[in-house]
Amino acid sequence: MSDATTPTASGTTATPGTPAIPGTTATPGLPAAPGTPTTPSPPLAPGAPVGASAGTPTRTRRGEPPSTSLEIVGLAGFGEIRPGDDLAEAVAAAVTAGGRPLVDGDVLVVTSKIVSKAEGRLVPAGADREAARQAAIDAESVREVARRGPTRIVETRHGLVLASAGVDASNISGDWLALLPLDPDASAARLRTGIATRLGVDVAVVITDTAGRPWRRGLTDLAIGVAGMAALRSHIGEVDDYGNELGMTEVAEADELAAAADLVKGKLGATPVAVVRGYGRLPDDGTGARVLVRPSNEDMFRLGTLEARRAALTERRTVREFSADPVDPAALERAVAVALTAPAPHHTTPWRFVLVTERRDVLLEAMADAWAQDLRRDGFDAAQIDRRLRRGDVLHRAPRLIVPIMVLDGAHPYPDERRTRAEERMFTVAVGAGVQNLLVALATEGLGSCWVSSTLFCAEVVTRVLDLPPTWIPVGTVGVGHPAAPAPPRPPRSPAEFLLHR
Ligand SMILES: Cc1cc2nc3c(=O)[nH]c(=O)nc-3n(C[C@H](O)[C@H](O)[C@H](O)COP(=O)(O)O)c2cc1C
Repeated sequence: MSDATTPTASGTTATPGTPAIPGTTATPGLPAAPGTPTTPSPPLAPGAPVGASAGTPTRTRRGEPPSTSLEIVGLAGFGEIRPGDDLAEAVAAAVTAGGRPLVDGDVLVVTSKIVSKAEGRLVPAGADREAARQAAIDAESVREVARRGPTRIVETRHGLVLASAGVDASNISGDWLALLPLDPDASAARLRTGIATRLGVDVAVVITDTAGRPWRRGLTDLAIGVAGMAALRSHIGEVDDYGNELGMTEVAEADELAAAADLVKGKLGATPVAVVRGYGRLPDDGTGARVLVRPSNEDMFRLGTLEARRAALTERRTVREFSADPVDPAALERAVAVALTAPAPHHTTPWRFVLVTERRDVLLEAMADAWAQDLRRDGFDAAQIDRRLRRGDVLHRAPRLIVPIMVLDGAHPYPDERRTRAEERMFTVAVGAGVQNLLVALATEGLGSCWVSSTLFCAEVVTRVLDLPPTWIPVGTVGVGHPAAPAPPRPPRSPAEFLLHR
């Protein structure tokens, strides 16, 4: 029994450029696949390199489909596939038991789950299944694309963008989690060779996984590994019935086969393989299913759209009324992490953020006292002072408070006041950039914020109450929470009025 994660003895893989096998043999007693010549040809020698298509059309004219009819038949009777099992042997046995021999040109569409099982791509779920799942997702991911609560859409090592990196707990015993095959194209090539060796037929293999799609509800199967056929069919340069030349059309036919085969395979695991007959495959160009992965420089949605990125900035609005919904502490931490990416002079890190929790009431009270004192000194009477103080209520209403701080560590000393002031102003604007980053990041988390000046005007009170170093300079307070209502439209501003050219 061969370990499917290492090449089999014959070790043959799809070889690009291998000449097409002339003609295919229609198995006696079975109808020939549509479009398949019935001229007998020598059967594929067991173990011989297989890499070219059957004698099916290699190029359609004028965007015509490669087949006029297809037959898709589920292949059941596998039993439990275990690590180390020879998948080609299992498929060959199921074909034999099913009494419906494969013919040259067939496409075997194989659920990745049984490939993963045979290749031992399993991890124990352990006592804490969710923790094991998250750890497996981390290990399988190269990039997080999107996250909502525990749901993570990530890019896998294969370049696939999938929920949970394809880590799956379905159709597997509760003690285990299945990972996608390490190299599904190689797995497909091995299976194809194994089938050629055992059954003497030239089949293509498509390994599938199930995925959701942005903008579309529902899951569909797609191809993650392909051997023995080209995964993409290009119609570029062909001319339609109206004389229009097709400029862009490339069809992901391996994905179409995967989705079509899922109609007979289903999701309950009893039928992990389907045989597609009558499909006019293109010669194997050696690019496997990897060719279906859009390179990042062609991906208009890699970081969301340009429009979405712009909206992330413009949709930050000052929010003064908050709902009672709790604020996720992790979201605050993520926003602070974004704040720390702001520009700052001399490679310094002039920002600190104090999340005020226990000392919140003491702080607000001390700040109100300090403000009242200032107003009394200004000559306001008690009623006027009271009215003014009530304007500070936004901080009382905000579910969370963050005090951004400026630290001047690393500021250059100057002997004169002009440059000393300029240096401090430079740090002040840098801290402003950090706070703006914080507010924008909070907005991307769906959190509203209000940056109010308050602590700027009573720095000593704040450092004393919050027990901070006296050299730390608070630069206001940010109230944070879920907005009670959508923000009103922003007043329009014309860049021309703010942009000068000299
Ligand atoms: C440094 C700074 C101090 C601010 N202080 C207050 C304040 O004390 N009270 C308040 O309600 N808003 C305050 N704001 C928020 C502004 O009023 C708000 O940014 C402005 O109205 C524009 O609205 P927008 O943020 O939705 O674009 C402050 C903003 C900044 C940048």
